[in-house]
Amino acid sequence: MSNFKQILVVGGAGYIGSHIVHDLCDAGYSVTIFDNLSTGLIENLDPRAEFFQGDILQLPDLQKAFSKPVDVVFHFAALKAAGESMLIPEKFSTNNITGTINLLNIMQAHAVKYIVFSSSAAVYGNPQYLPIDEKHPLQPINYYGYTKLVIEQVLDWYDRLKGLRYAALRYFNATGYDVKGRIRGKEKNPGNLSPIIMEVAAGTRPILQVFGDDYHTPDGTCIRDYIHVSDLAEAHLLAMNYLVEKEKSLIVNLGTGRGYSVLEMLETARKISGLPIPHTIGPRRPGDPPELYADCQLAAKLLQWKAKYSSVEQIIESMCHVYLG
Ligand code: WQD
Repeated sequence: MSNFKQILVVGGAGYIGSHIVHDLCDAGYSVTIFDNLSTGLIENLDPRAEFFQGDILQLPDLQKAFSKPVDVVFHFAALKAAGESMLIPEKFSTNNITGTINLLNIMQAHAVKYIVFSSSAAVYGNPQYLPIDEKHPLQPINYYGYTKLVIEQVLDWYDRLKGLRYAALRYFNATGYDVKGRIRGKEKNPGNLSPIIMEVAAGTRPILQVFGDDYHTPDGTCIRDYIHVSDLAEAHLLAMNYLVEKEKSLIVNLGTGRGYSVLEMLETARKISGLPIPHTIGPRRPGDPPELYADCQLAAKLLQWKAKYSSVEQIIESMCHVYLG
């Protein structure tokens, strides 16, 4: 199918989904956003896209969303707080696993055969070697990562049994804001490092607590592979084209292949913002591996994709525009 046009973006009002919606609209696709607005933001909606407020746990909502033609589905709707998933796994089972199975089953009922799925490097768990490639053992250490792995396995079965073609995109640490400055909605109560740094810079959070500086890394703080959301967005459109043109599924890492430490992110934010951004050194956070970064050669090979907006300076600059105006 070469003239696919109708795109349904589930979770398209969210941080990642809204960036992909803008790029899909720029590329001329007819986009419908399906979102329950539990964490997604109305202000992130692209006015060129139709908006349908619905929930993947409500089958009538899904029926309605599929009452018009859908060629490709993008699926971003999920709970992602790794720590919370260890306290309330049932919430993650329902939202992430049941919700996705509802979506996949309604896709089958309407013969929709392409899905781009937001997966995560959390499926790997603690690194047994670095950089992490797609052959790395899949041993998630938190329930959130396990839900992503279960969904990948269901997708694989639907590929084999029903001819579903899926792209499972394993994000490393998604960060930054739209390089074109179109998306400005800030995540509420973020748990991730970069928005927390920016909240301290903006004065909406008093201080950054660094979770340990006694790791076996150059400056003692943890290293992560931070990937700019605009780089992720480009990879999603390339993955969609791959599915439709090759009629084959794929699983790829989306990262830069290099890591930055907590203190490197913090010092860069201080330098670019010119603000003090106070911090304190606290105890380690349980479950944090010292270092995590991707081998992203497969995405380069299959999608001709490479991160280009993900230097620490570009990441922080793009966030300053949103958090500091
Ligand atoms: C990064 C580093 C912290 C906050 C998580 C999920 C993962 C994925 C990405 C969805 C760590 C340190 C953080 C703070 C700190 N989510 N830190 N002070 O843990 O690598 O990955 O988000 O797919 O599944 O686990 O990201 O941003 O939470 O932490 O020192 O206030 O920053 O210890 O070393 P993480 P993060």
